[in-house]
Amino acid sequence: MKTVKLGQQGLIVPAVGLGCMGMSEFYGQADDAKSLKLLDEALGIGCNFWDTADMYGPFTNEELLGKALVNRREKIILATKFGVKRGQDGAWLGISGSPEYVKACCDASLKRLNTDYIDLYYQHRPDPEVPIEETIGAMAELVQAGKIRYIGLSEVGAEELVKAHHVYPVSALQTELSLWSRDVEGMVLPKARELGIGFVAYSPLGRGFLTGAIKQRDDLERGDWRLSNPRFSEKAIASNLKLVEKVEEIATEKGVTPSQVALAWVLAKGDDIAAIPGTRHPEYLNLNWASQVIVLSENEKSELDVFSNNFKVVGDRY
Ligand SMILES: NC(=O)c1ccc[n+]([C@@H]2O[C@H](COP(=O)([O-])OP(=O)(O)OC[C@H]3O[C@@H](n4cnc5c(N)ncnc54)[C@H](OP(=O)(O)O)[C@@H]3O)[C@@H](O)[C@H]2O)c1
Repeated sequence: MKTVKLGQQGLIVPAVGLGCMGMSEFYGQADDAKSLKLLDEALGIGCNFWDTADMYGPFTNEELLGKALVNRREKIILATKFGVKRGQDGAWLGISGSPEYVKACCDASLKRLNTDYIDLYYQHRPDPEVPIEETIGAMAELVQAGKIRYIGLSEVGAEELVKAHHVYPVSALQTELSLWSRDVEGMVLPKARELGIGFVAYSPLGRGFLTGAIKQRDDLERGDWRLSNPRFSEKAIASNLKLVEKVEEIATEKGVTPSQVALAWVLAKGDDIAAIPGTRHPEYLNLNWASQVIVLSENEKSELDVFSNNFKVVGDRY
């Protein structure tokens, strides 16, 4: 198993983790029984770096993981997030990074997760109204209290990363990175590297698009969040499929799946990068897990790099 050391504080995780978001919301119907079985299987193969957030569900994704943790908490490297406020009815209530909010969220997450510690606690989105130093200060107090082990940030810029890291060592930055979302490679990833902060790539399969499984809007269930995402409009899909065709071409030549090429490309970006593909299917879990041993040749890497660099993705990320 390939592992990645996230940050200087010593958090070691498998290079391929498991994104759990889609098990509860956004990508189709939730089926807790199937998801619990999948989480069992994941643990069985060693895929024990699980990613959730309080706002997924909302709240039900943490509850699901809470059930999966019973009697084996220490076997799982558990990552969750706070900061995006949701109501019980699903309403979107803004962003908060206030110290009181951070502490209340942590206690609520611990309760739902059925545990007394979180391995990696992320601020999900920076709060423009609260200096990041204050938020990190509160997170540092949570480390001192033994409620969380490591600190992470999600979707912050290079400047915020520096400010935060100055207050308390940040172990991981989680941000979108895939063949169709490469902005982070410009300023942010180099800054994280300079500071010795590990990187966790979310949506490494382009929310499923890069696997080739989504060729039209009808391939998504009614109510799927992606139907309202700009990259999944009819026009965007038609154009963005040219990138998928490139991935498929390389996958066919190599005798692997497009999903494996997409993941191997992310992992090939560096030994400080872990990816957290999300799935609800055992066959996908196994394919994704196996992608850590797929080595792209220099030619394949550069072909993908150049093609995706020159490719004009249609639609914003959000
Ligand atoms: N920090 C943030 O702001 C943020 C934002 C988004 C996501 N995340 C985290 O990152 C995780 C992963 O991102 P994501 O779920 O958005 O996108 P992703 O991992 O790029 O793609 C997930 C989608 O791909 C499908 N899939 C997975 N493996 C496949 C395979 N081998 N072949 C074909 N299809 C496959 C899944 O289908 P099925 O579900 O049907 O199996 C699902 O629809 C999330 O679960 C969440 O924990 C974080």
